[in-house]
Amino acid sequence: MLRIEKNRLKRIFEAMRSRSILVIGDLMLDQYIWGRVERISPEAPVPVVEVQEERFKLGGAGNVANNLLSLGAAVRIAAVTGSDTNAETLLGILKDLCIPTDYLLPDPTRKTTVKTRIIAQTQQVARIDREERALVSGALGEQIISCLKDSLHDIDAVIISDYGKGVVSKNLIRDAVKLARSRKLPLSVDPKERNIAFYQNVSVITPNVRELSFGAGIKIEEEHHLREAALKVKALLGCDMVLVTRGEHGMSLFEKDGSSTDIPTTAKAVFDVTGAGDTVISCFTLAWASGATPIEAAGIANIAAGLVVAEVGAASVSRERLYDVCREELCG
Ligand SMILES: Nc1ncnc2c1ncn2[C@@H]1O[C@H](COP(=O)(O)OP(=O)(O)O)[C@@H](O)[C@H]1O
Ligand SMILES: [Mg+2]
Repeated sequence: MLRIEKNRLKRIFEAMRSRSILVIGDLMLDQYIWGRVERISPEAPVPVVEVQEERFKLGGAGNVANNLLSLGAAVRIAAVTGSDTNAETLLGILKDLCIPTDYLLPDPTRKTTVKTRIIAQTQQVARIDREERALVSGALGEQIISCLKDSLHDIDAVIISDYGKGVVSKNLIRDAVKLARSRKLPLSVDPKERNIAFYQNVSVITPNVRELSFGAGIKIEEEHHLREAALKVKALLGCDMVLVTRGEHGMSLFEKDGSSTDIPTTAKAVFDVTGAGDTVISCFTLAWASGATPIEAAGIANIAAGLVVAEVGAASVSRERLYDVCREELCG
């Protein structure tokens, strides 16, 4: 069982407040529409939702940024939007959160990714997706790398959040890895399974079991399959570590030297696992960049994920709350 000495944990959490992380990836807008259903439409056998409330939140790479912010880090985000009203909404949310918007690159040929959830009496009745999945142009990819160059001396780590919407390409990873390595910065990737071959030489990837299975081409049915798959992916990519997120089984960390550690979940209640992977990569990377060892960082990230799954929607946990729970779970 993982233990962290009290003062050490305190130092890690103190350091989080002075760390700055660049998030690169697929930024999305999450739209929630809540309403009431009292009748079936006369036009088709579907409910008529009377809208009572509407709210926008950051999704995808934006949820990673949000999680980092809750943990006290400074955040920058390099991403592509359309040039539409949804992009303006995104800009507004980022500004409200005091996240700099100068690395947001509008592309008039694309639409901003929006996921709309329609919820009637707590039940989701439909989700409407607006998105493009084609790779962004080479020129935009180069502009993202320019953002990384521009911030290289001010950041402590890079997170690449790949939801397969076109920002992350093989070239982008290659150039980002080169730059991050030149400054010895950790670079973590939350992978999209079909892009798995892109992530050569990154510091760590955080696949879930499905993504790992796809990446390795191994069906994961028993415990030993997970290890085989993780070691295969690690070797294929030449990455330092693989942190496999395993839903209700917590996570397993495979390190550079071949050692592995299983970390069981600490979740007390599970309502909604949306965005739990975003919490994991944010918290792991920030804790690691704040002086935690990879095992300690994984333990802290696992506790953070255990807290957000108890909340509805893509949630985040504050540094103070996470610190309190980590003290109970890790210092006892
Ligand atoms: N059903 C669950 N019960 C307990 N913990 C969970 C559950 N689902 C997710 N978690 C926690 O959230 C983390 C990430 O979730 P997971 O579903 O594996 O990733 P992703 O969201 O990337 O698919 C897990 O490692 C675990 O700590
Ligand atoms: Mg994930």
